[in-house]
Amino acid sequence: MKKYEFPKNFLWGVATAAAQVEGAAYEDGRGPSIWDAFSHIPGKILNGDLPDVACDQYHLYEEDIRRMKEMGIKSYRFSFSWSRILPEGTGEINEAGLDYYRRMITCLRENGIVPNATMYHWDLPYALQVKGGFGNRDIIKWFLEYAEILLDNFGDMVDIWATFNEPIAVYVGHANGFFAPGLKDEKYARQCIHNLMVCHGETVKLFRKKQLKSAKIGIVVDVWPHKPAHPGRENDEQMALYKNEIAGYGMFLHPLFLGGYSEILMKYMKENDLMPRIEEGDFDTMCQKVDFYGLNFYNGLIDDAEKPEKKRRREKQGGNFQDTREYHQEALWDVLHMLKEKYKINVPIYLTENGYCTEGEADRETMLDDQVRIDYLEKILYWLNRSIQDGIDVRGYYVWSLLDNFEWSGGFYKRFGLFYTGYETLERIPKKSAGWYADVIRNNGIETDKFD
Ligand code: FCB
Repeated sequence: MKKYEFPKNFLWGVATAAAQVEGAAYEDGRGPSIWDAFSHIPGKILNGDLPDVACDQYHLYEEDIRRMKEMGIKSYRFSFSWSRILPEGTGEINEAGLDYYRRMITCLRENGIVPNATMYHWDLPYALQVKGGFGNRDIIKWFLEYAEILLDNFGDMVDIWATFNEPIAVYVGHANGFFAPGLKDEKYARQCIHNLMVCHGETVKLFRKKQLKSAKIGIVVDVWPHKPAHPGRENDEQMALYKNEIAGYGMFLHPLFLGGYSEILMKYMKENDLMPRIEEGDFDTMCQKVDFYGLNFYNGLIDDAEKPEKKRRREKQGGNFQDTREYHQEALWDVLHMLKEKYKINVPIYLTENGYCTEGEADRETMLDDQVRIDYLEKILYWLNRSIQDGIDVRGYYVWSLLDNFEWSGGFYKRFGLFYTGYETLERIPKKSAGWYADVIRNNGIETDKFD
């Protein structure tokens, strides 16, 4: 059988986010986040699911870390809950919140698992949303206050820092309302994104001032590449261009790596009266040199303007999906090459999220026997390996997710975990994919004849 080996010291990981796994939403002084507020509005979350308890990792983190250790996982990507640390978003610090993260990170380190932490994974303190959230330029000041607390407390305990996870979620939450805070105002959404990107740049500057010994900082941007179903057909080309440059990854990668907004985006914003307020120096701030780029990748999509996007079934809402409009794993190769060629990204890349969801109506035994997930992940690793062979500097790979968790508007229905979570009992049961991934890590690669 053919062996596809990964570089020495390749960082095999798993990822989660605070709002999706921690639970303990109202314990030990934590303040509410926009996702707590949003999820309590009837009709916003599939089946009315609530993140109040989720996987209860707040109490069960030692158990989860033990499982990771048993699997040989080398790095855990998690996020901080801003409102657990600053219940009001700014001002008074909740020591119990800091204490939780100190215990959790220490436990990771004691088990030889590299902490990879995201400062912001979508859960703004509700108290700040009331003041306008990301649309209020004061967010820069608020975010820096929060970031400084994180860096002063955990700076060198965390090896890999990301300022933001998938900023597009902030756009979605303000432009079309599928995510918290649930607004539908594209102009405001564009201002939010602009301010967010300045927050990112200012945080990188702050990070440099702290002169931490070994920690690195970057940002995580998801890429869903769109390509026209019929290359050359005007409608399809336009559709893909819009999805890539105006309402997709171009919004972020251009200002981060090339400087400023792309011409296409500027033109679109001007013509549609969507221009954000831009202050002098903002574009320089946004493109601070980062130490790494975190890519979240799930699938690519094919745009056929004559067969408009089927209204996705409501059950499918909430993030990532697999359907016929997609082209799958080979799209990863396209993306990794595009990052290098188009955006000139020359810093190390981590694949900070990749995963496969199955849906909640199956019985437990079926969910545990998740060969479909293994097949998907294995093929991803094949294309990742090929990209690395081509000279793309990818240093690590994180499966989304360690365990089934609160999938935003998709509630608990969508299951991405290597472990099955029983939400009544909070038990975690390894799926077949957990054993498979442990083997991948042990062998530092995959062995298969499927892709020759
Ligand atoms: C990504 C999110 C992550 C999770 C996965 C399935 O877009 O970053 O929190 O929901 O999708």
